[in-house]
Amino acid sequence: MASATPRPVRDAIQVTVNGQARSLRTPPARPLLDVLRDDLELTGTKEGCSVGVCGACSILVDGRLMSACLVPVGMVAGREVTTVEGLAGPDGELSRVQRAFLECSGFQCGICTPGQVVAATALLAENPSPTADEVREYMTGNLCRCTGYYSIVRAVLSAAGTSATGDAAKEPA
Ligand code: FES
Ligand code: FES
Repeated sequence: MASATPRPVRDAIQVTVNGQARSLRTPPARPLLDVLRDDLELTGTKEGCSVGVCGACSILVDGRLMSACLVPVGMVAGREVTTVEGLAGPDGELSRVQRAFLECSGFQCGICTPGQVVAATALLAENPSPTADEVREYMTGNLCRCTGYYSIVRAVLSAAGTSATGDAAKEPA
């Protein structure tokens, strides 16, 4: 009996995730969000809307803020992906943004918090001293059902070393 033709071996996708080289054998069109959560067990990245609207799945790709639900995993081949788990130092020391969210109670239920923290990290890398309005503007893609955003803005300003008083004290209109 003729043997069945072997199926071609799919090339693995090489990517660095939180500083670690990973080799992923998976269809390149799969959402990166699924690969992070289901294959790599990095469940800090949350799934909300699945269509790029809520920001719960925010990650950094080569330092740029992206929604992991919209990124096919093949698109990150050769790139560096950072999830919320990768923001802390190697000894587990929280980043200044993570600390500020804790200190300012920038969360309630917490489901949006990893995305908020990742987005705030990207913001401060681009603009180390944002105003409260700039924080609100940058983070419009990160929805929160709980906090009213005041404590989130306060946390980002605190991480920036900016006073959390003044215009930050105003609730958004
Ligand atoms: S789950 Fe990706 S933006 Fe909402
Ligand atoms: S803290 Fe609950 S959705 Fe933001």
